[in-house]
Amino acid sequence: MTTMDIINNRVSIRKFNNKPIEDEVLTSILESAIKAPTAGNMVPYTILKVKNSETLEKLSVSCDHQPFIKDADTALIFLVDLYKWHHYLLQNDVKEYAEKTNRHYDGPTLADAILAINDALIASENAVIAAEHYGVGSCYIGDIMENFEYHRELFELPEYVFPAAMLVLGHYDHRPAPRYRFDTKHVIFEETYKKLSKDELEDMYQEKTKLYNPNVSEEIKNYAQQFYNRKMGADFFVEMNRSLKEILKMFERP
Ligand SMILES: Cc1cc2nc3c(=O)[nH]c(=O)nc-3n(C[C@H](O)[C@H](O)[C@H](O)COP(=O)(O)O)c2cc1C
Repeated sequence: MTTMDIINNRVSIRKFNNKPIEDEVLTSILESAIKAPTAGNMVPYTILKVKNSETLEKLSVSCDHQPFIKDADTALIFLVDLYKWHHYLLQNDVKEYAEKTNRHYDGPTLADAILAINDALIASENAVIAAEHYGVGSCYIGDIMENFEYHRELFELPEYVFPAAMLVLGHYDHRPAPRYRFDTKHVIFEETYKKLSKDELEDMYQEKTKLYNPNVSEEIKNYAQQFYNRKMGADFFVEMNRSLKEILKMFERP
């Protein structure tokens, strides 16, 4: 298989067989993750390798009740980790140095946090591709950004550390066909941004509208309303918003 085959045939999987991921394979996947580009070569993240079945079970509840999480061989939690850098700077008197040079350092800022999210996600996708290379399937779990306080306690996270992404990994039970994507003309613009017209937006989402089920609720009149009801308007999304706001408070600095 070529790299292009690996990228183009990847699908998220939610059903794993029970074949364990070999230790050497998991180590190689993790090593590939940290080879990913990282701003300033800072590696401002930590990857938590979770194999304990009780912890996986807890995650399957705390991450919006998704039972398949507990069937994974391993969960990899990509934590933004600015604790290590912060303490390294403090122990090397960067705070005092900043004051002496008319600047101020007392901890990581929003810019550090967002850059570190980028880095953590780029590393996680390297892990996805490396896993595919070994025939190991994966699924991202965005809900790891919910229930911050619970996950902080569960994983003993110090200040300036929070989950940016989670991957669940396991061997494929079966390999679903690659999933539909929007036409590239709606996703790739030339040189400058192009605002899509009303008709172009309907055209872009036309495949999705086939998923509209009029029997879900009398009040739901179209696919957009159905999608809003299931995602942006759903309780888990309200919780994700609350949890992320709480996380970002750690980085509120002038
Ligand atoms: C940031 C992110 C969060 C996701 N969270 C979940 C999740 O919580 N549960 C889930 O079953 N799939 C999750 N997915 C998988 C997407 O649903 C999946 O990528 C999408 O439907 C496209 O399918 P494909 O990956 O098979 O191409 C997530 C994907 C991403 C990138």
